[in-house]
Amino acid sequence: MTGGDGESILPLELQDVCYEAGGKRLIKDMNFRLEGDRTTMVLGPNGAGKSLLLRLCHGLLRPAAGRVVWHGAGGGDPARHQAMVFQRPVMLRRSAAANVDYALALRGLARAERAARVEDALDHTGLKRLAGHPARVLSFGEQQRLALARIWALRPQVLFLDEPTASLDPAATHSVEQIVTALRGRGTRIVMTTHDLGQAKRLGDEVLFLHRGRLLERSPAADFFAGPQNDLAQMFVAGELLWWRRQKRKLPTDVDPREGPR
Ligand SMILES: Nc1ncnc2c1ncn2[C@@H]1O[C@H](COP(=O)(O)OP(=O)(O)O)[C@@H](O)[C@H]1O
Ligand SMILES: [Mg+2]
Repeated sequence: MTGGDGESILPLELQDVCYEAGGKRLIKDMNFRLEGDRTTMVLGPNGAGKSLLLRLCHGLLRPAAGRVVWHGAGGGDPARHQAMVFQRPVMLRRSAAANVDYALALRGLARAERAARVEDALDHTGLKRLAGHPARVLSFGEQQRLALARIWALRPQVLFLDEPTASLDPAATHSVEQIVTALRGRGTRIVMTTHDLGQAKRLGDEVLFLHRGRLLERSPAADFFAGPQNDLAQMFVAGELLWWRRQKRKLPTDVDPREGPR
């Protein structure tokens, strides 16, 4: 097992999970189970609830109802074995290497072990020559690679990625995809969102399609991109359902417009 020390914390199961904020139900009756070493793509139009779902899974948000269960965690702390990377990387005011080292120190790793892991992580993310540079002066793409270098060094079993390439150019996007593929190859279970359908095809093994806080379809990626079962997912893949509000008139009548985001 290279994804982390000890037994796997998977499967992850969401049982009737709902999330509410501002008096609105934003995630509705979410039920699914994630296991194995597939990469799961969470897709859906803007405002569908993708980011909220990842935050609920990662434990950053508490469900208003239902449960998020890590079946393999036993009595242990699942937080130790999972990590999340956001659209905008969060960097400390110190060198690239020190940013990675800090994450490892928080986990209580000894200095020698940390040094070896930092070097290995910077090497695998193409950042070795930038090790001593202040992280905050790195380009956006380099910062995102550094966020992934932290992950490489931390070796989580499960990684949540929320639109990690949303503000990157094609070259930087390609680098991030290569690192994500390498992480997956090393045994990390990846759950990610993207608005880039090409990226979802390249990296995803299965798709969870969300719309207005509901899970409308779960399919193997090949099946989903060949032709989704769900009508709204079909519109989404065809590029017709990017923002549900704009498309409101075209939506099937079973969708209540009052349920949507403001
Ligand atoms: N704290 C909050 N209070 C009220 N509404 C929120 C809050 N957080 C998110 N939302 C709303 O929930 C919906 C889903 O948000 P989000 O998960 O960020 O969508 P996605 O990532 O799919 O674009 C959006 O309409 C958003 O405006
Ligand atoms: Mg989002």
